[in-house]
Amino acid sequence: MSSPKNSTIKLIDYTKSDFEIESLELEFELDAKKTYVTSKAVYTKFSHQKKLVLNGEQQDLVSVEINGNKLDKSSFKLTSTTLEIFEVPECFTLTIKTIIYPSKNTSLLGLYMSSDILCTQCEAEGFRRITYFLDRPDVMTKYRTKLIAHKNKFPVLLSNGNKVDSGELGDGRHWTIWEDPFKKPSYLFALVAGDLSVVRDVYVTSINKKKIDIEIYCDKGNEGKCDHAMRSLKNSMKWDEEKFGLEYDLDMYMIVAVNSFNMGAMENKGLNIFNSAYVLARKDTATDDDFLGIESVIGHEYFHNWTGNRITCRDWFQLTLKEGLTVYRDQEFSSDMNSRSVQRIKDVLKLRSTQFVEDSGPTAHPIKPKSYIQIDNFYTTTIYEKGAEIIRMIEKIVGKEGFRKGMDKYFELYDGQAVTTDDFVHAMEIANGTDLTHFKRWYDQAGTPIVKINELYDETSKKYTLELEQTCEMKTYGESWRPCHLPVLFCLFDSQGNEIFPETLESLPNLDKTKKIWHLKENKEKATFLNLEHRPILSFNRQFSCPIIVKHDRPVSDHIFLMKNDTDEFNRFESSQILATDAIMQNVDLLKEQKELSLDPFYIESFGSILYDDSLGHSIKASCLDLPSMALLKQEMSNRSLPIDIHKLLMAREGSIKTLGQSHQEFLFKLYNEFKTDTFDLSSKSMGKRELKNICLSFLTSTENPEYIDLAYQQFINSNNMTDELASLSCLAKIKCDKTELALDSFYKKWKDEPLVIQKWFALKATQTHDPSLKFLIDLANNPAFDKKVPNFLRSLYTTFANQNDKLFHQENGHGYKIMIDRILEIDKYNPDVSARMFNAFRIFKKLEINLQNEMKIELERLKNEQNLSKNLFEIVSQITS
Ligand code: ARG
Ligand code: ZN
Repeated sequence: MSSPKNSTIKLIDYTKSDFEIESLELEFELDAKKTYVTSKAVYTKFSHQKKLVLNGEQQDLVSVEINGNKLDKSSFKLTSTTLEIFEVPECFTLTIKTIIYPSKNTSLLGLYMSSDILCTQCEAEGFRRITYFLDRPDVMTKYRTKLIAHKNKFPVLLSNGNKVDSGELGDGRHWTIWEDPFKKPSYLFALVAGDLSVVRDVYVTSINKKKIDIEIYCDKGNEGKCDHAMRSLKNSMKWDEEKFGLEYDLDMYMIVAVNSFNMGAMENKGLNIFNSAYVLARKDTATDDDFLGIESVIGHEYFHNWTGNRITCRDWFQLTLKEGLTVYRDQEFSSDMNSRSVQRIKDVLKLRSTQFVEDSGPTAHPIKPKSYIQIDNFYTTTIYEKGAEIIRMIEKIVGKEGFRKGMDKYFELYDGQAVTTDDFVHAMEIANGTDLTHFKRWYDQAGTPIVKINELYDETSKKYTLELEQTCEMKTYGESWRPCHLPVLFCLFDSQGNEIFPETLESLPNLDKTKKIWHLKENKEKATFLNLEHRPILSFNRQFSCPIIVKHDRPVSDHIFLMKNDTDEFNRFESSQILATDAIMQNVDLLKEQKELSLDPFYIESFGSILYDDSLGHSIKASCLDLPSMALLKQEMSNRSLPIDIHKLLMAREGSIKTLGQSHQEFLFKLYNEFKTDTFDLSSKSMGKRELKNICLSFLTSTENPEYIDLAYQQFINSNNMTDELASLSCLAKIKCDKTELALDSFYKKWKDEPLVIQKWFALKATQTHDPSLKFLIDLANNPAFDKKVPNFLRSLYTTFANQNDKLFHQENGHGYKIMIDRILEIDKYNPDVSARMFNAFRIFKKLEINLQNEMKIELERLKNEQNLSKNLFEIVSQITS
């Protein structure tokens, strides 16, 4: 593996740009094969610097002019990534002509083709693949963009801002001019050209009664699948006005759905470009989770208009400034649109199963990293989801009202600027008169802190002592971890289930009695509560107020008590999961001792008590019943300092599901029937019923009782919505019977021409475990419905296989690892963003039990010896193998 030279970018090397750009005029003569770009920019110099160095790659330079005079070759130097002009005046107009080749662009960064649509992705550094420019977020300017293209191939021509003019050229081509009145960094530039359908609507703002035209563009035939996206967008606009007093600032808001997209979506000013999976939905094609995903991503991109576009990042080390904050905002939006507790549970499950894994492995990094090789690799769950948790903790510290004041201050101070995370924290501090110096450690340290709880109740003195200790083994850039400020929500219950807050012995400044927050800041802190007749029951880290791992040895009866009585729904869920995890881990121990699986009868009973508990909402009940995923259990194993034994874990988990299904079949069947309805709507209540019904079905079918298999098959045939159709199909896909293949085949025939739906089929097929030769993966890739140029397909098949098919990916002969490395190398040749992300499945390397570790090592060595890895893949490979 040869290392890309001098390519580590460091935060401490940041310097301000020597140049400012007053305005930019772009002209595109668009064509799939060959596109001519002319960029005319007015530059002003701040310093005595003679030279101007512009970023640019993967394009052919035609000419460079300064103030209308063409430069000859001796006045500039071209490298594969820069254009260096040796001497420039104080103030000048720079005109650059280049040629780019969209149909050859398989990386989907810059200008590329998605099917027959020309579109762009410029964040983080795609603009430099369009023209030579100061491609950095702190260089902001006003854009005027002229698009020229053949009218029949590209009847729709879109760019940022407002459309100011259009016309025909008389040679079959037409043109439009777009003007964006707001200054923006180049990463927010976008253009789209294609033969698209549009769905229109209007939103009137409530603050200034401004009329905004909304347009959602999609492939012809998909117009009927845009309603939910439209509704979500209007709800987002209203929500941001109500919650943060933020109104939309242009006359138009456009969203374009494209099939080939590396990520979820992109917040380009006034012209969002979306992975079609986050726009298109109809009840027969999309699941409830898809609908929720659309709502949250539409919200996310919309909220970026203020947190991202109006106030942007000074440099890419500040990425969490806009991403963490915007994820926090979209989570809050979803909580207000649906159920807050359910949303919290989902967000925490996502955090734990992805971010906690990242934060405890070789690619761990702080939310504000200090160096990187390839910025695209840093669009991580740490920057996004942990970043959102950091914002949520600030909200806990300053309170909801204080948070709003801080946000107002942030816009007052920094609107129109490119700023840092320190600036954000500063706004929060001065708006609230709070000192967040200690808290800021969160920005610079990787790793998930562990909080160990020690409780002691003394019957004679009636004293209860609670001791908290925080630790973290993760080092950040070689430095050991320093304790962080943890605003932990907690409370004590008496045996009747009443919340109590007894007097304490010490006066503890870190204990906020009114808000019931313990502001843990030191390694160890202790409180003694007085006059307690009985041992109180602690409910800790309520609402999951801090992103931590809690270690607490306590009686099982406490968990049962909290599961039934906690007034915090999150902690009711949490208790159910601790009970389940312990039961499964006990089974792993039995397997190690080569004993038969047997589930603790006490646990079987407590599972039953969830089933019968009418005080739980449907969706929360479903979450409580669902056993912890393999991703979570793997972490649990390594948190207990055990090497991860995938196969024992898998057997223990599956065995537990089966036992629970058998033990509670009557009631599961009863609940299933109770929620079997024909009416469909998207209310939380209705979604909750489907979720609960389908979880019951999955426990029932795990028994492999033909009666229940038939039940699933009937649901599959008769369902009128994708949630039920897919849920029953995935129950069937987990077992091996004649109905399995029958159902999978009929699903394929029905949906093979709907890419977003057939991607679900590929994902299900990827989790099937009956062909250890892995020939099925090759066959699936050769299926005519599969398209390797569309990242969604690659993720459905390969990412699903590596992350969800534990049995075959981790098979003992190492074939699962081999096939994945082969695919990753192949994909790396044309789409490094996707290949590098896919490789994350290998992060588990050093945590695996030794036999699998050895097998994985062989494949990792092979990859390491490969020449010409992309920068993206190189960076992650070196982290994982070092
Ligand atoms: N800013 C976009 C969003 O969070 C994601 C951009 C992804 N870009 C990338 N190079 N990976 O909505
Ligand atoms: Zn974002």
